[in-house]
Amino acid sequence: MNPPASSQFRVIDLIRKKRDGGALSAAEIGYLVEGCTDGSIPDYQMAAWLMAVVLRGMTREETASLTHAMLHSGEVLDLSFLPAKKVDKHSTGGVGDKTSLVLAPLVAADGLYVPMISGRGLGHTGGTLDKLESIPGFRVALPVPEFHRVLKACGCSMIGQTEKVAPADRKLYALRDVTGTVESPYLICASIMSKKLAEGTDALVLDVKTGSGAFMKKEEDAVFLAELMVETGELMGKQMAALITDMNQPLGCMVGNALEVQECIEVLHGRGSEDLRELCLELAAWMFFLGGASKTVVEGKQRAQEIIASGKAFATFRHMVELQGGDIGTIDDPTRLPTADYRVEVPSPRAGYVTAIACEQVGTACVILGGGRERKEDSVDPAVGIVVHKKIGDKVSVGDSLCTIQCHSDAQAAGAKSLLEESYEIAVAPPAQRPALIHRVIYKGAH
Ligand code: URA
Repeated sequence: MNPPASSQFRVIDLIRKKRDGGALSAAEIGYLVEGCTDGSIPDYQMAAWLMAVVLRGMTREETASLTHAMLHSGEVLDLSFLPAKKVDKHSTGGVGDKTSLVLAPLVAADGLYVPMISGRGLGHTGGTLDKLESIPGFRVALPVPEFHRVLKACGCSMIGQTEKVAPADRKLYALRDVTGTVESPYLICASIMSKKLAEGTDALVLDVKTGSGAFMKKEEDAVFLAELMVETGELMGKQMAALITDMNQPLGCMVGNALEVQECIEVLHGRGSEDLRELCLELAAWMFFLGGASKTVVEGKQRAQEIIASGKAFATFRHMVELQGGDIGTIDDPTRLPTADYRVEVPSPRAGYVTAIACEQVGTACVILGGGRERKEDSVDPAVGIVVHKKIGDKVSVGDSLCTIQCHSDAQAAGAKSLLEESYEIAVAPPAQRPALIHRVIYKGAH
């Protein structure tokens, strides 16, 4: 009898190979991922290999092999029964970063399918699932057959990661979290892409954030990760594009779960903050273009504007909420969404111009209000948040409100208030320029 194919490798050899800067084959990486998932390789050996990857990096082929092995460690959804292209968007996370709630119905309203598996808030950044759960009754944990039914009926569905999707990532991520090995673009790429590709999409638009409120503060790091994800996705046969977008200040003016749903409804009605609306239109344009619904990105943007103006994007959102058990009364009248009645203003200490915002601190202020999690097991308060009135470049007078904290009491607001006061930089002269919304686009046009 032949020994199992995997027994041709010894974990120690693979650790040494990566430690010494070698490149592992697809079979070697597959062996490690399989052994990690089924528990046959002990955590201390996987951790040693992960650290070697952090220090030595990976080739594009290794990154694609790791992504492939993690993707196939669990269930890969088969959406081939849907009669049009499937497209999705993934954001690396930001503050007030709420475009998914607009994009899924907007793109689905034009005949493409958007099977969106999203996450919860991470650190100072908000999560799509937490925002959706602020709609009373909305269910994010749909079984796969129901996910299929919602997709078929309205073109989009937004759910959380199931236990069966990319189990290798769950194990590896937990190990990375406690061994100082999260910060590797190769491991981040494989982690994100394995989960996203498990959705069965044909095309993926990445919104890679950079700036003071992003995980990648430096643009060059964001570009490196974006290129890696685009190339990895393309190697795996997907249409890919990445937009490097600004996170030096909150996106839009609402930060907090129900507040962000409210702001998305505004955008779906053709109103809302200029920067949020603009970013949604750009991302939708790329989704249309990669999904083959428009010949150019410019045409895709025009189409996105028309779909919003026609009311179809809002109607699709309303339909999805209804199908997923949400109270559509709150969608028709967003003032019925959970709200915190106590208001605390954060006044400007001087006259001048807003020249910078420590955006991560704004996200942290929302977390400490209860709008995000300090620990995994924390529950989230959907009603609290921050309404941002002044952004970079805006003129302010002494005492003008920079932002309003919405919470339940003065005591609850105290910590957030001092963080927000510290996060605004106000100078006599205006900043040389306002941050550009889109820093760069990475599109290689393969496929
Ligand atoms: N998000 C993920 O899903 N994985 C990472 O490794 C980092 C961020």
